Amino acid sequence: MRAPRIVVFAGSIRTGSYSARLAALAARELALMECEPVLLSLADYPLPIYDADLEAESGVPEPARQLRDQLASADGVFIATPEYNAGFPPLLKNAIDWASRVRGGEGDAFKGPVYAIGSTSPGGLGGYRASMMLRQTLALGLNVLVLAEQVMVAGAANAFTEDGDFKDERALERLRAVMSTLIEQAALRAGLRA
Ligand SMILES: Cc1cc2nc3c(=O)[nH]c(=O)nc-3n(C[C@H](O)[C@H](O)[C@H](O)COP(=O)(O)O)c2cc1C
Repeated sequence: MRAPRIVVFAGSIRTGSYSARLAALAARELALMECEPVLLSLADYPLPIYDADLEAESGVPEPARQLRDQLASADGVFIATPEYNAGFPPLLKNAIDWASRVRGGEGDAFKGPVYAIGSTSPGGLGGYRASMMLRQTLALGLNVLVLAEQVMVAGAANAFTEDGDFKDERALERLRAVMSTLIEQAALRAGLRA
């Protein structure tokens, strides 16, 4: 039986991004577990700001189709989001909005995979408010099954070593536990495990 495919990406393409570091660490930990991790960057899916007139004139841009296909082929998805003004950033919202406009294609990008959320912030709340907004968009807006368990990284500027590990062993344990639950739930939903 095949291993569950887990797509991982961050809601930031900033050089040195904390959420991209969280995504990379999650993918590294997933690679040690029974799954097939796929680490994406939204930099590879450049999209104009969603505009219904643009969509009516030119259809959905190809990168949105490609992103949607990646999500639809996943059994699980882990999104690591930064926090902008108590919400999640427009880069991520725009990517989700465009992907949600794709019609046709195999599978379903949002009703297929199980999603898990991570958030980072240099502040003390760990991007909690961004994670709640992302949860609302996914669960209420797109009917996604989102795990209750999530990862929040506060003080993100000092949370990582130069090698991309967490400095705090408990944070690593938390990330591993959430990734393990994501694999388990993704495999169950995809019928890969009894
Ligand atoms: C427009 C804007 C708004 C921000 N608002 C918040 C905020 O509400 N809470 C917070 O913790 N950090 C906030 N920040 C700081 C970001 O957490 C910080 O820039 C972080 O490095 C961005 O994530 P990244 O490292 O993954 O790119 C904000 C940054 C920007 C540019």
